[in-house]
Amino acid sequence: MLSRVSTIATRSASAFARTTPAAPLAMKFCNMQNRGFKVVVVGGAGGIGQPLSLLMASSGLAKELVVQDVTMSMVPAEGVACDLSHIETDCKVTSFALDPSKPAVDQLGDTLTNATLVLVPAGVPRKPGMTRDDLFKINAGIAKGIIEATAKYCPGAMLGLIINPVNSIVPAMCEIYKQKGLDPAKICGVTTLDVVRANKFVGEAVGADPAKVDIPVIGGHAGTSILPLFSQCPYGAKLTDAQVQALDPRTQDAGTEVVNAKAGKGSATLSMAYAGARFGKSVLKGLSGETVTECAYVASTVTELPYFATKVTFGKGGVEKIHEIGPLSAHETARLVEAKAQLKTEIEKGLEFVKGA
Ligand SMILES: NC(=O)c1ccc[n+]([C@@H]2O[C@H](COP(=O)([O-])OP(=O)(O)OC[C@H]3O[C@@H](n4cnc5c(N)ncnc54)[C@H](O)[C@@H]3O)[C@@H](O)[C@H]2O)c1
Repeated sequence: MLSRVSTIATRSASAFARTTPAAPLAMKFCNMQNRGFKVVVVGGAGGIGQPLSLLMASSGLAKELVVQDVTMSMVPAEGVACDLSHIETDCKVTSFALDPSKPAVDQLGDTLTNATLVLVPAGVPRKPGMTRDDLFKINAGIAKGIIEATAKYCPGAMLGLIINPVNSIVPAMCEIYKQKGLDPAKICGVTTLDVVRANKFVGEAVGADPAKVDIPVIGGHAGTSILPLFSQCPYGAKLTDAQVQALDPRTQDAGTEVVNAKAGKGSATLSMAYAGARFGKSVLKGLSGETVTECAYVASTVTELPYFATKVTFGKGGVEKIHEIGPLSAHETARLVEAKAQLKTEIEKGLEFVKGA
């Protein structure tokens, strides 16, 4: 197992160096370890972070996992890492707790050096009295601190941003990478939960195994910007018009179902961890040489908007192909206009943040 992963890592690293124009930089900050893939979960002691860390540590793809959080997290990152370190997998689990009163970039050198994949379910949830704008500014500030550190210590690593609002934070962080001369294609907004939910809902509606359903969900990751393309999957295409009219908004609002069922005491953490791990494993499989396609929210030229979620193929170099939208039903064509209108405003908010930062 050790030698197999080691061989994969070496092969992938040399392929990356061969095909990437910025090869000297890529070599200097090589994102592969000799022993395999290093995964960092930022916010790893949180509601999503803990089960996500569990799934990545037990994925068989990570040789090293760092649970990173802040010094005052509800559960210490060290405790989460200690717990996970007892699992009978060939994955070394360590931790790091950051002091948020000091710049992240001054503290994350050891944590991020040699990282292959950085998953970011960090951030604060919305509290009573907090506007969406307040939440955006706080979480964008947290994301910026992390991005400045990944830019310095692991610029070749793939990043999966789970931190909300994804629609605005991903554009802001990609622009910061561009300003630093780095590749914004390393940064993906994790929208996998929308796909997971759509697959489950369609499977239940048509009596199919959800694992066999594959509904692309495009656009963005909030409200009407979430656009499930039921017509592009043979199972989704079986839905009646009435079922489409019900399952489209249900996919958009599924997070509220969870918040209500948890009586306001939490939001989607377990299903999000499952989805985040599905995304993370797809990226690592891609880096190992297997091509895997997932929907993700990325810098894109597929529409007139600079950021958009469509199917993305992951390979040895990370994002290797961003797919076109494909054929749409009349309902989906109308919804695309609505999705783009919401997304445009939210992208602009992210870009404004960078200008003001
Ligand atoms: N993309 C999605 O589909 C999706 C779904 C659900 C939730 N989310 C988002 O994921 C984020 C986390 O949600 P949660 O329910 O796990 O929240 P949580 O509060 O349980 O966990 C967040 C963790 O981040 C940590 N944190 C805060 N600042 C940090 C920093 N600077 N560095 C490292 N860690 C830091 C906190 O200490 C906490 O442990 C939120 O922004 C939430 O809105 C996204």
